[in-house]
Amino acid sequence: MNKTPWYKNAIFYELYVRAFRDSNADGHGDLRGVIEKLDYLQFLGVDCLWLLPIYPSPLKDDGYDIADYYDIHPDYGILADFEALIRAAHARGLRVITDLVLNHTSDQHPWFQAACADRNSPYRDYYVWSDSDQKYKEARIIFLDTETSNWTWDEQAGQYYWHRFYSSQPDLNFDNPAVQEEMLNVARFWLELGIDGFRVDAPPYLFEREGTNCENLPETHAYLKRFRAFVAQINPQAVLLSEANQWPEDVRPYFGEGDEMHMNFHFPLMPRLYQALAQADRTPIVEVMRRTPPLPANCQWATFLRCHDELTLEMVSPEVRQFLWETYAPEPRMRLNLGIRRRLAPLMNNDHRKIELLYSLLFSLPGAPTLYYGDEIGMGDNIWLPDREGVRTPMQWVAEPPHGGFAPPEAQPYAPVINDPVSGYAQVNVASQMDDPNSLLHTVRRMIVLRKAHPTFGEADLTWLETPKAVAAFLRPGPEETLLAVHNLSAHPQTIPLPTGRFTGLLDERIVQGHLTLPPYGYWWGRISTT
Ligand code: GLC
Repeated sequence: MNKTPWYKNAIFYELYVRAFRDSNADGHGDLRGVIEKLDYLQFLGVDCLWLLPIYPSPLKDDGYDIADYYDIHPDYGILADFEALIRAAHARGLRVITDLVLNHTSDQHPWFQAACADRNSPYRDYYVWSDSDQKYKEARIIFLDTETSNWTWDEQAGQYYWHRFYSSQPDLNFDNPAVQEEMLNVARFWLELGIDGFRVDAPPYLFEREGTNCENLPETHAYLKRFRAFVAQINPQAVLLSEANQWPEDVRPYFGEGDEMHMNFHFPLMPRLYQALAQADRTPIVEVMRRTPPLPANCQWATFLRCHDELTLEMVSPEVRQFLWETYAPEPRMRLNLGIRRRLAPLMNNDHRKIELLYSLLFSLPGAPTLYYGDEIGMGDNIWLPDREGVRTPMQWVAEPPHGGFAPPEAQPYAPVINDPVSGYAQVNVASQMDDPNSLLHTVRRMIVLRKAHPTFGEADLTWLETPKAVAAFLRPGPEETLLAVHNLSAHPQTIPLPTGRFTGLLDERIVQGHLTLPPYGYWWGRISTT
């Protein structure tokens, strides 16, 4: 019997419901729209959908400001639609996880409203209050471009409240046992509706302690372990995919002894893929993988190139951050907080060789790859929209105006569909790429098929080959086969010596031995059977 947990070899697909498909012409994508597109997702071959927050919310942070944990945002549908989506996805062998925000609520949440209105309300202690804004000074500010303090004065409450993100997102007080219970109940509710786990938003910040930076505290880990045990009781297969944006050694405790989070995003790896490509030098990738600690057997990294947030540069040195900003975000509008608010294709100047090269690294390095909707077709971005909205525009399905298949013609989309001459829906859309076997969509799909057919990619060790630094070549030695992935990070052809043996191409049919020559930004996957 294969005991490998499903998520270790899964491909995740991050999907913003508002942006995917509007089924009722109100201008907002909805759950019924996602159901309409499940055939597409099945064709693409992904295993698990990760839905951005779908709860009622004033949407000051696109739903990461939750006003009710037990319902669906009316723009997206009703709970019955959600149940229908779960059923339809499961019928196709697709899993679904949703974003769960433990750390904070919206300031519109009835708990916060009650807390502000009455000092004696039992909800007062659901949040973190102070008469001064001088506590916890060592905690950094995350939304640097918007917030000047982690404390905001509430006139009605007559005190300051604590928030790690926007001031419209008051932090919950996890020192209060009632808050801890509330979040277990929320988890139970969604698990009983049939979901396959959660993407756990912003876990490092649950507790505050004076004299610390209020991140990764022992109390936080203790609660996450309790949360995990509770989730496992309800659904032992459910996954917790955590978003601890931390250095490898600080992330490692989030996996516990295999009894905390099942997965965590590999934040330090992501910017180094871009750095290695820009500098034609594999060193940053080699170093970060060397610094990546081994995980308990039932855990896995989630790897990614882009997501719904800015391409965060928190996990690089100030010098590298400056270099990456200058390389990939030459205009100030392209930058946000400590990151870059652009999508994959424009970051690569729409050079398909480079886009494919990055995908090849994503699919052949250890970890479970996570795709961001639209990046499989090379969608563009819109840097004229504020905050992170420019990377959350409507999905581009067909070439037809006015909305490229996102919404019926009479709808007024929540954001303009990209229609510039390079990345607009007339040029970049699912339908035309489906028809073209050489399209990015087909290339990504082929990589997905191979990645799934060869679990060695997800599980085996990583051994680097001695090559010129412009080449990132590694072996993945599994019990039945050894896989080889070779990447030319440079604009010049590169020839490298191969280990002994005859390698059979996975993406093409070539048999290669001795040497391999790659064109500029070329890549190649091969295998040797070891049985
Ligand atoms: C996470 C989300 C981000 C959100 C923040 C606050 O970092 O990815 O989109 O703004 O949490 O909830």
